[in-house]
Parts: sequence; C-alpha cells; structure tokens
Amino acid sequence: MDYIDTIPFLAYAASFRSGEERIDGFLALKEEHTLRVLEQARGIAAAEPAFAAPLPRRALLLAALYHDLGRFAQFRRYRTFADARSCDHGRLGKTILRRKGFLRAEPAEVRRLVRTAVALHNRHALPDGLAGVGRLVTQGVRDADKLDILRLMAEQLAPGVVADSVVLMGLENAPERWSPLVLSALEEGRTASFRDMRFYNDFRLLLCSWLYDLAFAASFRKLRDAGYLEEIIGGLAPVPVAQARARRAVAGCFRDGSQDLREKTPCPPMLPDR
Ligand SMILES: [Fe+2]
Repeated sequence: MDYIDTIPFLAYAASFRSGEERIDGFLALKEEHTLRVLEQARGIAAAEPAFAAPLPRRALLLAALYHDLGRFAQFRRYRTFADARSCDHGRLGKTILRRKGFLRAEPAEVRRLVRTAVALHNRHALPDGLAGVGRLVTQGVRDADKLDILRLMAEQLAPGVVADSVVLMGLENAPERWSPLVLSALEEGRTASFRDMRFYNDFRLLLCSWLYDLAFAASFRKLRDAGYLEEIIGGLAPVPVAQARARRAVAGCFRDGSQDLREKTPCPPMLPDR
C-alpha cells in the first residue's frame, strides 16, 4: 500500500481549532471528510488501471489528502463553506499548498499534478485544455470527493435529521419546494449548478446529477452499490412529482451505465417528463 503521511495535514487542521464546540465540530467534519476521501481515492487507484503507474497514483492520493486544505482558512475568515458567498476554496488550497511547503519533498511533476487537482477539484466543469495525467488525477480526486460528500449528505438530508445550516450551505429548509432549473439539469443529463440551488430539495436533486460527472467505472459502481442516491431521493417524499422524476433519471443513468462500464461511464440525457 502506498504510504501517505497524514500528520502534516492533521497538524495544519488542528491549528484552526478555536475551543468553540460548534466551530470545531465543522472543522472536525472537514478533517474526517478528507481522510475518507483519501480512502475513496485509494479504492479508485486500486480498481482503475490508469492509476497503476506510481506517478499518477501518488499524485492522486496526495491531492485527495490536500484537496480541501482551503476549507479551514475559508471557514475561519467567512464562517461559511459556500464558495459563492466567500472564496474559491480550491484555488485557496493551491496557494496554501505552496506557501506551507506541504509538497516540498515530492518530485516536481507530482507537485504540479497535485496543485492542479486541488485548484480544480471544486470546479463545476474542468477546462477543455486540461489533458493527460493532469486531467486523470483531477478527475480521480473529484470522484473520490463526490463519493464521500454523497455519503455525508445522505446522512445529513435523511428524514428527521436536523442538519446545520453551515453544512447545508444556508439553503432554505422548505420540504415542499424545489427549483425547476435544478431538476431539468438532472433530467437533461447535466450536472446541476450550486448557483441555482435555493432549497434542501435542490441539494438532493443536485447530488443526484453528480452521477453525470463521475469519470471512473469504479466510482459509478461504488455509488450504485452504496445506495446513497436512493436514500437521498427518499428525502424528496414531500414532493412526489420531483421524487418520481429524479428516481427515473437516476435509474436510467444506472441502467445505461451498468451496461457499459468503460473508463467513462456514459449517461445519455433523460427526456424531461412534461
Ligand atoms: Fe472541496
């Protein structure tokens, strides 16, 4: 197993502790998330032949460890995890990586790949110009990140759970409301945008649309087998029409994807049910 030293990251995260229980709870959530993303990345690296070579594999694991480095400074300064209301935590993470010298013992190529993946892990879409190993490593981190966020949000958005507004990024808890823009993205085979979200249900729909952004068959299988999306869709029960439409879109994507699990899982656009 590839050794990755997590101590520098954990020490950095610990330096942000404030002694305030609620604040430290959010920071602990990000620490746990990071370690789980690292585990997800190990799973992807083990399953996908593209990561058989040591260079992309090491870059993927280090990028997973450092992908949310920017979250700590972001939260201390703005008290939110919503990039739209604060700063781009991916770009901030890249700056901190360089400033703190976390990668100084790594070869230049690994440093370059990790910085790129950290900076771009939270982009809505990757730049067309990002190619080769840079794209591969960035996609690996994005998949690993999404898999753990889906796990976490399946818990946080479960019926009866009182989620904190920081975790739900200030969205409105209105059980019978949802935004048509977010649902149409899901039905049309597009990844929905954070900017279009207003309600908890929009977050549920957006999370479903992440299916289209998964790059690796291993991630797709993991998500299908874990059942997170079924749990998340279960929370749409107060809006039966949106629930049925989301369920149909996700089932279609799983069905089509499972017939053809190649490097990039194809999910053809769903026809909207009007
Ligand atoms: Fe992130």
